[in-house]
Amino acid sequence: MSVTDNTSLKLTKEVPAAEDFLPLLGTDHVELYVGNAKQAAHYYMAAWGFQPLAYAGLETGLKDRTSYVLQQDKIRLVLTAPMKPGGEINRHIEQHGDGVKAIALWVDDARKSFEETFKRGAEPYMEPEVREDENGKVILSGIHTYGETVHIFVERSAYQGTFLPGYRAWNPHYQPESTGLKYIDHMVGNVGWNEMNKWCEFYAKVMGFAQLVSFDDKDISTEYTALMSKVMSNGNGRIKFPINEPAEGRKKSQIEEYIEFYNGAGVQHMALATDNIIETVSGLRDRGVEFLRVPGEYYEDVLDRVGEIDEDLEPLRELGILIDRDDEGYLLQIFTKPILDRPTLFIEIIQRKGAKSFGKGNFKALFEAIEREQESRGTL
Ligand code: FE2
Repeated sequence: MSVTDNTSLKLTKEVPAAEDFLPLLGTDHVELYVGNAKQAAHYYMAAWGFQPLAYAGLETGLKDRTSYVLQQDKIRLVLTAPMKPGGEINRHIEQHGDGVKAIALWVDDARKSFEETFKRGAEPYMEPEVREDENGKVILSGIHTYGETVHIFVERSAYQGTFLPGYRAWNPHYQPESTGLKYIDHMVGNVGWNEMNKWCEFYAKVMGFAQLVSFDDKDISTEYTALMSKVMSNGNGRIKFPINEPAEGRKKSQIEEYIEFYNGAGVQHMALATDNIIETVSGLRDRGVEFLRVPGEYYEDVLDRVGEIDEDLEPLRELGILIDRDDEGYLLQIFTKPILDRPTLFIEIIQRKGAKSFGKGNFKALFEAIEREQESRGTL
């Protein structure tokens, strides 16, 4: 299915296109602040099949930072590391470890995006600015969201270059093969105790999002519920941001563990979509990506729960891929272990076969798997 197919997308309020004051064309890129951009880039290329796209650093006139840009189909990652002591990027890394700084959104009008969100209460991060080179111009602006995370609005219709002005094409000998990842399905934020509603209201009021009604919103089995979650979606459904907050559970919440190690709110996971999760996950596993495993019993009755599926169960069981269904179809998903030293950011691989929800039926099995990991870290 296409992410732009929102014919059956259910929002708690209708958002007619005419009233969408912040039309978003998609996710432009995700920027991570990391301790060592060159080596992080190699990780995302070798393990995840991202291809080299662009570079900015000393050779392009930058003195204080280095950025590598990677691409796989519609997904673009920017990995940025500081080059000198002090400064904003170092401070960010000291506080949070490597992590997502910016979720950049592709817009037709970056000035208007800034003005519309600013007048609705957004805290400015970057006043609209024009960046130009021989390939044209780009207009960027930005606002703050939860924690130290920001949204950058990228207007690139007048730009023909590789990525952004200031970057040059990066075309090394090493060109890893894709693992079949297509686009960002959703980006999840973890926020502090009792802050979920505040940030959902931010997305509603400041960015014109609405709450996506899905099975995920209903109460989750209490014994394992260690989080509350709401999903906010923009008007055309291309951008979906679930927001989690910790909840009192039987054990220490996984969200609480995140908040502790990230030192505040931040991006918990990126969900990357594929058309063939079995191929994608086998490829990733062979390249060294580590996934959370649910117990084998999960597969004994999963088809009773989700009904018939197109795939053979055996490869799903072998790889540990989870299955869930809502009233519009089913989905296949799997979650990595944290991909950084701190137990913070992880990645979800998702294949949608009609389902528009987020895998609530898997929460219990998943939480048990996460708790086993937490136990081994002594953070339960
Ligand atoms: Fe997710």
